[in-house]
Formats: sequence, structure tokens, C-alpha cells
Amino acid sequence: MPDKAFIPSAYTTTIKKGSFEWSAPSNIALVKYWGKKGKQLPANPSISLTLNNCKTITKLAFEKKENDGNFSFDLLFEGQPKESFRPKIEKFFERVEEYLPFLKDYHFTIDTQNTFPHSSGIASSASGMAALAVNLMSLEKELNPAMTEDEFNRKASFLARLGSGSACRSIEGNVVIWGSHDETPHSSNLYGFSFEGFHEVFKNYQDTILLVDKGEKQVSSTIGHDLMHGHPFAHQRFEQAHDNLSKMKEALAKGDLDAFIKITESEALTLHAMMMTSMPYFILMKPNTLEIINRIWKFRAETAIPVCFTLDAGANVHVLYPENVSSKVLEFIKNELVGYCQNSQYICDEIGTGAVRIN
Ligand code: PMV
Repeated sequence: MPDKAFIPSAYTTTIKKGSFEWSAPSNIALVKYWGKKGKQLPANPSISLTLNNCKTITKLAFEKKENDGNFSFDLLFEGQPKESFRPKIEKFFERVEEYLPFLKDYHFTIDTQNTFPHSSGIASSASGMAALAVNLMSLEKELNPAMTEDEFNRKASFLARLGSGSACRSIEGNVVIWGSHDETPHSSNLYGFSFEGFHEVFKNYQDTILLVDKGEKQVSSTIGHDLMHGHPFAHQRFEQAHDNLSKMKEALAKGDLDAFIKITESEALTLHAMMMTSMPYFILMKPNTLEIINRIWKFRAETAIPVCFTLDAGANVHVLYPENVSSKVLEFIKNELVGYCQNSQYICDEIGTGAVRIN
């Protein structure tokens, strides 16, 4: 499907004013996206778990205005004006205007809040861009009521991607694949969609996020992705991601937790290895990140409980495990891992259903 397919033909109705409210979750990649090309296209395919509790809630109010050639919007974060978001939203509107030609016909008020704490080291760009994209799609649906739910979700994911790549995996629920992959029919670099065939052991899969370092990221993901251009291992890495996605789909379908753990942990370390071997090189893990990883490995070896870790572009550790071992794993986390978290903080999350309309 070419990206021109997302340019709407004439709208069939009009609307003067109104508002929508949506929540959209964060997601955590199992096979990582690191490296991009063109207009926010991934250098390799990825697969993620959609989270449930870490989310952004955004209310979008709109009122028709004269199209004077400008975008017009007010920004609120937790009810207070937030001008520092303006450049990011302005850039997003510029990128998506071709696909949402009504944008300059309305004045918008965008009011956003996150369920996770400020500067927790959890990126809000995925949930934030996804929440904005579904709101804008609700307005488009008012203008084109014939749109199907599939069309809505696909275009919402397409738009979210133009805001922040991994945001395209925060529209649909459970497990989401994004990026062209020979062994995944209908896969696309333009949007993410749900992978349906996962085994029931992954139902309600748990993700406890250990907040090791809540500071600002030293290196933005934009710069990190850019460093994959000319990276000495880029080619092999991109090929490996295709291969790991095939293996991960099989592990998810069969409920093969051993394979799931191997691929997930290897992908997390590979992501960080790419950062450590780029020029300039950098390390986002902290000593406590490594302590936690070693403790998880020891606990898994001693108990045979299928718990593993993954990492995002930061020092925090996502501890992943099936729901039926959650009481034992939580006890382990409280007894052995919390001491490595900043202010003993961690967030309990699990697989979720994706973006949800609130009003
Ligand atoms: O969506 P971005 O551009 O912030 O990139 C995020 C990339 C990782 O989170 C590190 C990996 C991934 O696939 O989510």
C-alpha cells in the first residue's frame, strides 16, 4: 500500500466544533527498531507488546476557523499551558497535513496527561503521538463516516509513525508488528498491526518496569537512529532483526518461553551493543542495570521460573513474565531488585488492548 493511499478523497460531511478523548498506551519492543530511512521508515521490522497502565490520555477540542494558511492550537499538559510541546506538534502537523487536509480549517486545544510519573525515563512520545493520532482520526471519521475500523486503525498507526516511529505500535493491542517482513503477509513499513496468533501463555503477560535512572536520556532516539547510517554492523543487524522476528513469531505462536526469553534478551543487548559500537559511542545502561540483569539470570537458573528482561533506549529494566508466576516474581523483585531502583520505584504493567476512546 503506497503512502498516497492515506490521502483522503473529498469528505462527505462537515462539523463545526466538538471534542474527543482517547487514551493510548506505551509499548515495549521484543525485536527492536533501531535505524530509520526516508520519512520515518524503519530500517528493520520490529514486534512489541502493547502495555496497559503506562499511557497518555489526550482530549482534543476543535472549532472551525478561517483557513488562513496556519495551524492554530493551544497546548495543555495536566491542565496547564505547555508551550514547550509546540515545536514537536507543529512539526507533526506539517508532516501529516497532506493526509489530514482539514488541519488548517480548525483551531485545536490539545490537553494531555500521562499515567506514569514525570521524568521516569519512560518515553511518552509513543503513547503521546498515538493518542493525538487517534483523536485526529476521530475527527476524520466525522468527516468521512464510511471509514471502517480497520481503515481507522491503519491510518491512525500511519499518522502516529510520522510523529514518533514506535508510536505506530501503540494503536492496536497485545502484540504488534511494524515493518516489511517477507514471512509476514501484509506487513508494512508504513504502519503496525496486531499479530493475532499468540499462545495463551502470553495472555496477560506481565511487564514490571524497574526505574533505574529517571533522568533525561543522554542521547535522543533521533540521534541514535541516525548513528545506524554507516554503522559497521548495520547490515548484519538489520538481517538479524528479520530472522529474529521470524523466530519470535514462532515462539509466540507455540508458547515457547525458552525461545522467547533467548530472543528477547539478545535483542535488548544487541540494541545497546549498537549504541556502544556507533561513532560516537555511548552507554545508556547504568551499573544497576547490569546488577539487575545478573540477578534475573541467577534467579531464573535457580528457580526455572521463565522471567526475562528487556531494555529500551535507557537504563530502566522491563521484567517480563507470565501471569501465573507473578506472585513469585513480584516477591523476588521486592526482595532483590527494588534496591537497585532509584527511590525504590517500579511500575507494574501488563499486556493491554491498545488505544481506547473515552467519551
Ligand atoms: O520511536 P522512537 O523513534 O523513539 O524509537 C524508539 C526505539 C526503541 O524504543 C529503542 C526500540 C523500539 O523498537 O521501540
